[in-house]
Amino acid sequence: NKTIVVTGCCSGIGADFAKLARQAGARVIGMDRNDPTLSLDGFVKVDLGDVASIDAAVAQLPERIDALANIAGVPGTAPLDLVARVNYLGLRHLVQAVLPRMPQGGSVVNVASILGAEWPARLELHRELGQTTSFSEGAQWLRDHPVPEATSYQYFKEALIVWTLTQSQAIFMQHGVRMNCVAPGPVFTPILGDFVQMLGEERVQKDAHRMKRPAFSDEVAPVIGFLCSDASRWVSGINLPVDGGLASTYY
Ligand code: NAI
Repeated sequence: NKTIVVTGCCSGIGADFAKLARQAGARVIGMDRNDPTLSLDGFVKVDLGDVASIDAAVAQLPERIDALANIAGVPGTAPLDLVARVNYLGLRHLVQAVLPRMPQGGSVVNVASILGAEWPARLELHRELGQTTSFSEGAQWLRDHPVPEATSYQYFKEALIVWTLTQSQAIFMQHGVRMNCVAPGPVFTPILGDFVQMLGEERVQKDAHRMKRPAFSDEVAPVIGFLCSDASRWVSGINLPVDGGLASTYY
């Protein structure tokens, strides 16, 4: 059976994915800043915005990790620095720390967002940021290239997509591990209200008119499951929208 590490396992999409993976027979080790209320096979408390906390947490993980589902995230209503650390710099650091424990055929899934869809507009910037090789180097680059506070969430989801796409081949060649993104549209979870605050009522209404309803998190979890499973063993370096077709209406 596969051992799957799930960040953000205490709420929303992460909680639903952890449940689904266990039902499918995986051994699920959760990671979150909060204590879990659901049953897991293991749990490590961590602040994914803090390098020392991530390193201490990784030291407690099993020797072999077949899949890493990076689902934890904070909304853009959080301070920019926190969005940068949790949604991007810390996630990258965790991937790099876990990779040596992953066997050939392993899989990393990063949860981005439909709100990162405009990454081609800033491709060069995101490429440059993606080439920084550590948390602290990335943080320094961000001090030199300030990001607008109002769109910090979008910026770091874009950066995550570009990092995933540009790093996946090297990771596949070096470790035999696949790395992909999923990009959900609106999902009924505790942070949905923050998106209304972030984007404004008008944009949210516009999106709402283009689709029937937000997703339920158990409509996103199986897609993460597919990308963690051997059924997707030849899928690497993609960003898969899970949005009921919403992103396609932008074109
Ligand atoms: P949620 O708020 O229900 O769950 C997020 C989880 O991440 C929580 O358990 C929280 O404790 C954990 N977390 C946050 N900061 C942390 C930190 N510093 N250290 C450790 N754990 C931390 O949110 P939801 O909706 O389930 O979000 C999951 C992912 O999906 C996020 O990356 C989010 O950006 C993304 N997403 C969500 C959408 C939505 O409409 N809900 C839409 C598109 C993407």
